[in-house]
Amino acid sequence: MPDTITTNSPIIAAYRAATLGSAAAAIKAQQLFPSGITHDSRYIEPYGLYITRAKGPRKWDVDGNEYVDYFGGHGALLLGHSHPKVVAAVHEQIERGTHYGASHETEIAWAEWVLRLVPSAERVRFTSSGTEATLMAVRLARAFTGKSKIIRFKHHFHGWHDHMTSGFANHFDGSPTAGVLPGVAGNVLLAEQNDVAGLARLLDEHNDIAAAILEPTGAHGARLPIDPQFLHALRDMTQQRGVLLIFDEVVTGFRVTPGGAQAEYGIRPDLTTLAKILSGGLPGGAVTGRKDILDLLDFQATKAAEREKIAHPGTFNANPLSAAAGVAALEIVGTSDACTRANRYGEALRRRINEVFEEERVPWAAYGTFSMLHIFTNPDRVAITPTQFDPYQHSTESLTGNRQADIVHKLRLAMMIGGVDFNGSPGGLVSTTHGEEELEDTIAALRKTVHMLKQEGEI
Ligand SMILES: Cc1ncc(COP(=O)(O)O)c(C=O)c1O
Repeated sequence: MPDTITTNSPIIAAYRAATLGSAAAAIKAQQLFPSGITHDSRYIEPYGLYITRAKGPRKWDVDGNEYVDYFGGHGALLLGHSHPKVVAAVHEQIERGTHYGASHETEIAWAEWVLRLVPSAERVRFTSSGTEATLMAVRLARAFTGKSKIIRFKHHFHGWHDHMTSGFANHFDGSPTAGVLPGVAGNVLLAEQNDVAGLARLLDEHNDIAAAILEPTGAHGARLPIDPQFLHALRDMTQQRGVLLIFDEVVTGFRVTPGGAQAEYGIRPDLTTLAKILSGGLPGGAVTGRKDILDLLDFQATKAAEREKIAHPGTFNANPLSAAAGVAALEIVGTSDACTRANRYGEALRRRINEVFEEERVPWAAYGTFSMLHIFTNPDRVAITPTQFDPYQHSTESLTGNRQADIVHKLRLAMMIGGVDFNGSPGGLVSTTHGEEELEDTIAALRKTVHMLKQEGEI
């Protein structure tokens, strides 16, 4: 049994009692995977849930327990699990083949949706994941500018390739994480978001910066929110100095608005990375943006310009299944009020959670932007009014410092016992299928969770 927890917590005991099938699966997984898991964010003690089925806003585990799902396919499922139109498109495609080793019309339709929805998109190159998309964006920026350094912002996440590891969860001094070459980490400059003066200094000190990349609503899906004024300053300052601006819209793309954060804030980045909702819940990613930059992937354009082409193979680039799911999903995003509905639920969810915290006198707060939820568990025990919580008034350390705390762990387990799966942020991502029932079920589970945590003396 994967169990390093020795505790007599009633919450953990109740979780174990309700999830015997997951426990059995976890024992097998321990013999197969490091830590028994296949994605770091699924690590939870004593073990995570094993899910067999999902539909709309809900999922069911091997023990038959039902959950309101806020993991949302790590943000990929704006339309909920198995949206009928996405399922139909994938069914139809799988009958017609999953890989042609050739171009196909569905990739054209997919790219047309990207160009239609994303304001800065002039050309698209599909990849297999968001990590691959940010890797290509960085390479394009370096090749285009002939410069080597990249500005990243502390705590911002852009996938797991070598340029993106320091300064996301640790190594905030920019030193390389295990297995990364010092020469790679050394070409990444870590900056503070919302600090215009610091950014100006960095840009003045280095004349070899190819690009700045960021999550445009702030680190960790706005757990650390960005002031839109900072985005405008960043755009102006990078433009003035010939530094490319890359919006990593892997989470915000097609979620914040159909055109992503760039449409919301009226900012035109040079390059944009996309994934998740882009491919309707199947694997996929893309880098999109200025034609003159993406021309570095173009055989004729590079030849005419006498420049070296950037090679880009990739077995599953624009694979027909992801393309079919992507077309179905983007069509819904582009022709309905999907983003608005999810945002509205997000707002109601945050408000209702804060009302519970206030009624129960818990000094925590739900916050977030658009269809994203974060829960502040107040590690420094400062006085707050949950319904008026303003994350800008709190330090980065207090907004992020509670991520691994025991209390977050128990909060998540207690919510699961109550039939709600929050992510480890702690918080979640909302879909268009979350409705009145899910809201009431979530609030009921939260009330029970608060009572259980109080009984254990955690709050
Ligand atoms: C903002 C952001 N960029 C990039 C990535 C990496 O995407 P992928 O997991 O598809 O490699 C993620 C994944 O969560 C992300 O949130």
